[in-house]
Amino acid sequence: MRLSVIDHPLVAHKLTALRDASTDSPTFRRLADELVTLLAYEATRDVSVEPHPVTTPVAPTTGVRLTSPKPIVVPILRAGLGMLDGMVRLLPTAEVGFLGMIRDETTLQATTYANRLPDDLSGRQCYVLDPMLATGGTLVAAVNYLLDRGAVDVTAICLLAAPEGIEVVRAAFDQHAHVTVVTAAVDERLDEQGYIVPGLGDAGDRLYGVV
Ligand code: URA
Repeated sequence: MRLSVIDHPLVAHKLTALRDASTDSPTFRRLADELVTLLAYEATRDVSVEPHPVTTPVAPTTGVRLTSPKPIVVPILRAGLGMLDGMVRLLPTAEVGFLGMIRDETTLQATTYANRLPDDLSGRQCYVLDPMLATGGTLVAAVNYLLDRGAVDVTAICLLAAPEGIEVVRAAFDQHAHVTVVTAAVDERLDEQGYIVPGLGDAGDRLYGVV
């Protein structure tokens, strides 16, 4: 497993505003969207491309284009939905699949309650969107789900991560060179309820309100 913590002043600036408890939902959604686009730029560094001829107004040359099949973007419901627009802005031709996962607040175990993904992901590059890498349970379950269906390469984009969650993901995909986590910051720790400290609170609630 590879970990990439994006060290950039704009990323840090937007993350600080996201953390602020007084940031309202509309502003939180806009900031999350902008932050994802910045993270996506780094996360797609290894996206698969092939040579492609192009004729400029001056001369023919060879550029690149995304290879087919196109990458799949997989937001984890519900909070990952708040990251989708920011991701597809950079990858507009990507397909989008959905995974509904919920963690039991007592056991902190993740279970899948919905999925809308092809059964066969052979040869596909997948980008999982999950704002908070907390215990790691949800992300390990999601990555396994995609690898089991043949995905060759899975990159998770998380706004924030806890050291405990990173270790869980690292242990699960120790031997897997094609699992990557990209995040804006690694925080101090998890609290007893499994919240990231200092974190930004419940990402789903802050994006969409408490329902
Ligand atoms: N999920 C969240 O939304 N926030 C946390 O701090 C941990 C998990």
